[in-house]
Amino acid sequence: MKLNIALLAGDGIGPEVIDQAVKVSDAIAKKFNHKINWKPALTGAAAIDAVGEPYPDETHKICASSDAVLFGAIGHPRFDNDPSAKVRPEQGLLKMRKKLGLFANVRPTFTFSSLLDKSPLKRERIEGTDLVFLRELTGGIYFGEKGRRDEGETAFDNCVYTRAEVQRLAKKGFELAMTRSKKLCCVDKANVLETSRLWRETVQAMEKEYPEVVVSYEFVDAVAMRLVQWPNSYDVLITENLFGDILTDEASVISGSMGLMPSASLGADIGLFEPIHGSYPQATGLNIANPMATILSAAMMFENFGLQKEGKAIRDAVNNALNKGIVTEDLADGGKSYGTKEVGDWLAEHI
Ligand code: IPM
Ligand code: MN
Repeated sequence: MKLNIALLAGDGIGPEVIDQAVKVSDAIAKKFNHKINWKPALTGAAAIDAVGEPYPDETHKICASSDAVLFGAIGHPRFDNDPSAKVRPEQGLLKMRKKLGLFANVRPTFTFSSLLDKSPLKRERIEGTDLVFLRELTGGIYFGEKGRRDEGETAFDNCVYTRAEVQRLAKKGFELAMTRSKKLCCVDKANVLETSRLWRETVQAMEKEYPEVVVSYEFVDAVAMRLVQWPNSYDVLITENLFGDILTDEASVISGSMGLMPSASLGADIGLFEPIHGSYPQATGLNIANPMATILSAAMMFENFGLQKEGKAIRDAVNNALNKGIVTEDLADGGKSYGTKEVGDWLAEHI
């Protein structure tokens, strides 16, 4: 297969982890006879510095004309500590998600047998966990009208959802549930929020189209608790943008490190594949960041093209590395650890 992939390294550790994902993907291309044409483009703080905005038109053109986007990370502390900043790196990611129509963010959480004791949660609680969040990605409070009173004493953010937005996300949730254990949990706060009541009503109305799927409706606060108590009781969870953002960070603890969790953002034709972690500015340039989440995001990218064997080859290599202790310091427990680049090299060699 010939693939054009937009390559958005972004900020902080982004370029370092992206380099490893490219190396591993190129090894896959070589082994399985594909041709990948990488098309680098600017985003985030790096793009603000270069051209004054975090998702330049040129970058959008490159993404929109590619088969997929592989993304590193976005964000820089100099913006976090300046509430008055007019342009922020994160706006680039939000704009990209919106402009590419990526309304469904697929965030799996699974455990690795060699890491069961690395999680702060007890082994018997997390063993067997294999769940997927479908986070709505282009609506809700992230995209509602924003405002601030002139005198600066009041701020507000609006959470807005349309039935159609809920339906298209829920449809993906039902379809995914049909390919797994046919269990779907709709996470909301329907006891308080009007948007959540719309979510619940919409999902309830869709249940009859998927009679085999058992749907549960749970409040987000209760899910936050149950997720760390009985994570293996969940399978597919659907939820709105902000709840999904928060719960997927929480869920990443189950696997042992946030540096392991990949994601795919889907919707229209072009998928975006990125680790769920941020730009980890303190680690920039130190060759210590875990590249596995980005590498596993590349696996999701291959799988989304229908290239299952290619995805599996990456997953197998990652599992081997974890079993052999070829890991970065976040997983080394104070023992021997490898650099970002060395882990990438090892994985590319073992494809
Ligand atoms: C994520 C990130 C982003 C989000 C930020 C960087 C805008 O936290 O992908 O989860 O909140 O969606
Ligand atoms: Mn997040």
